[in-house]
Amino acid sequence: MSKPVAIVTRKWPMSCEQRLKELFDVTLNETDKPFTTEELKQALQNCDVLMPTVTDKISADVLSVENRKANMIGNFGVGFNHIDIQKAKELGITVSNTPAVLTDCTADIAMSLILMVARRVGEGERELRSNNWTGWRPTHLLGTKVTGKKLGIIGFGRIGQAVAKRARFGFDMEILFWDPFDIPNDVINKFNANKLNTIEDICRESDFVSVNCPATEETFHLMNKERFVLMKKSAFLINTARGDIVDENALVEALRNKDIAGAGLDVYETEPNLPEELKTFENVVSFPHLGSASIETRIAMGNTAIDNSLAFFEKRDLPNKVV
Ligand code: DGY
Repeated sequence: MSKPVAIVTRKWPMSCEQRLKELFDVTLNETDKPFTTEELKQALQNCDVLMPTVTDKISADVLSVENRKANMIGNFGVGFNHIDIQKAKELGITVSNTPAVLTDCTADIAMSLILMVARRVGEGERELRSNNWTGWRPTHLLGTKVTGKKLGIIGFGRIGQAVAKRARFGFDMEILFWDPFDIPNDVINKFNANKLNTIEDICRESDFVSVNCPATEETFHLMNKERFVLMKKSAFLINTARGDIVDENALVEALRNKDIAGAGLDVYETEPNLPEELKTFENVVSFPHLGSASIETRIAMGNTAIDNSLAFFEKRDLPNKVV
């Protein structure tokens, strides 16, 4: 039997590319240059499975390309807001993602942001590297203690809970959360967490507000001007989920007005661009979307995308079917 034809839109870890070559008639992207809209359309016409990632905008227009051959999209990543899922469903295209395997690493990055922004680590490093450190003194770069503070988590799914685990058991933090879905009592009890009724309550009560929900129409600009104003002036916003859950202009305004104490960000509304002013605040720590960026996790993501695609062609249940 001939192998399914696969097109991969970005460079993957070497061992995954090796596995792809064994299992598929695959076209890899050696240059790692992102596909244009036209190239994405052509790819859908020329393969059985497209393996895109978060940097590929798979819009309704792209999916509706004439003479499409691909009926499977094996996404490299957990988030699928870059794919028009409704359209895919309408057209009978199967889409899979890679949840679970990136939970720990994303939670680690959230914790790094909490620590860095509260303890002014970025500022300190910049000072040292620019040869401006004059030595230890009792009032030098005083930050905020993290241990024992209140962490408000918006979205208490896999990643939210993994952040809670680190914060609760590593840093003795008090866990508050908001989630539109019912969370089992044993999970809540495990973290001695408190479910608050509204996002407003989370904003009012937390020392750190961590965004850990998916990007959907409902969560677009969920953190907005009104909610920043509700946050304590001493509180920090942490976002490791998706950029457009936070209204970036409102965030810049909140930072400018000192409505909040700072922000730790891994994701942005229009990556890789972020508002110039956001880069000027000393009390903002900005990572270039590093959540899942460990070699172990990226290999696991690639293998999960492969496993989902194999299941599709072998007519088995997909381990991680989105639609
Ligand atoms: C995902 O998988 O959606 C991440 O944002 C990429 O690490």
